[in-house]
Amino acid sequence: MRDQIKELEARALKDLEAVNDGVALEKFRVTYLGKKGLVTALMRNLGKLPPEERPEVGREANLLKKKLTEKFEALKNRIEEQGQRAFRGIDVTLPGRKPELGHLHPITQTINDVCDIFQRMGFRVVKGPNVELDYYNFEALNIPKDHPARDMQDTFYISDTLLLRTHTSPIQIRVMEAQKPPVSIIAPGKVYRRDSDVSHTPMFHQVEGLLVDKGVSFADLKGTLISFVHQMFGKETGVRFRPSFFPFTEPSAEVDIQCVLCGGAGCRTCGQTGWLEILGSGMVDPAVYGFVDYDPEVYTGFAFGMGIERIAMLRYGIDDIQMFFKNEMRFLRQF
Ligand code: DAH
Repeated sequence: MRDQIKELEARALKDLEAVNDGVALEKFRVTYLGKKGLVTALMRNLGKLPPEERPEVGREANLLKKKLTEKFEALKNRIEEQGQRAFRGIDVTLPGRKPELGHLHPITQTINDVCDIFQRMGFRVVKGPNVELDYYNFEALNIPKDHPARDMQDTFYISDTLLLRTHTSPIQIRVMEAQKPPVSIIAPGKVYRRDSDVSHTPMFHQVEGLLVDKGVSFADLKGTLISFVHQMFGKETGVRFRPSFFPFTEPSAEVDIQCVLCGGAGCRTCGQTGWLEILGSGMVDPAVYGFVDYDPEVYTGFAFGMGIERIAMLRYGIDDIQMFFKNEMRFLRQF
C-alpha cells in the first residue's frame, strides 16, 4: 500500500505539471481529489489494512491528500490571476474596433460606370481572353501584315500565333463568329502593349463596343456616343467627331470632348486646343464581315473603343497614369 501511495504521488505531480489552464485543472481535480477520484479511493481502502499498519499508512495517505490539495489550490489561484490580468488589459467600455472597409479601384469603378451606361442602352457585357490568337487580334480585323502594331516592338508575342491582346477589338470578331445579328455588346478588359513611360503602362484597360443590325447608320453611332459622353461627363459637355483611320472601320472617326479642366478655353492638359480625344470609332468595315460570314449587303454596324485610364484621369483630374498601378493607399483611399 505504501508503494501505491508513492506511485500515486509521482503520477499526480507529473500530471499537475502539464496543467496550464482551467479545463485541465478541473480534470486533475476530478481524477485525483474528486468523490470518485484516486486519492479518495485510496483513503477508503485504508479500512482493509491490518489494524497495526493503519495509523502509519493513514498518515502518509493524509499527507498526500494535503499536499495535492495545496498544490491544486496554488495552481488554481495562479491560473485565475492570469485570466484576470489578461482581462484587465481590455477596457470593455471602449467602442469596438471598426473593421476597415475596402472599396473598388478607381479603374474598376470607371469600367462599371461605362458599362452601366451602355447596358441601360441595351448593350450586353461580354469578355474575351487576354491571351489571344494573332488571327483575332490582327488578321480578322483587317490589320495588314505590315501594320506597325504588328511589330515585335509594340506587341507582346507568346509564339508566332499567340500574343497578349493589344486592344479589346478581337472580342468583336469572337462575338460575331458566335452569333448572327442583331448584335450589341460592350466588352471591358485588360490590354497589353510594349510601352512604358510617363504616359504609358504596359497593361491598361479598354472598353469595346459593337452594334450590328439591319439599317444601322453613322447617325446611330453619333447618337449613341453623344449620349454616352453626356451621361459620363455631364449634359453640357461638347462633343466632336474627327475623321480618322482604323483598318477595321470605314469611315472612321475619333471622338473628342470639350476639355473637362478648362471648359474649352485651352490649357496644358488639352494642349491649348480645348479638346480631348477619348475614343476611336467607325462603321464596321465590310472586309471584317467577310471573316465572320455576315452579309455586308444586309447588315451594317458601328464599333468603338476607349481607354479607361484616360477616361478615369479626366473624370478625377489625375495627371499621372502610373498612379493607378502603384497601389499607394493614400491615393486609392480618395475614391
Ligand atoms: N482598337 C483601337 C485601339 O486600340 C480602338 C478602336 C478604334 C476600337 C475604332 C474600335 C473602333 O472598335 O471602331 O486603338
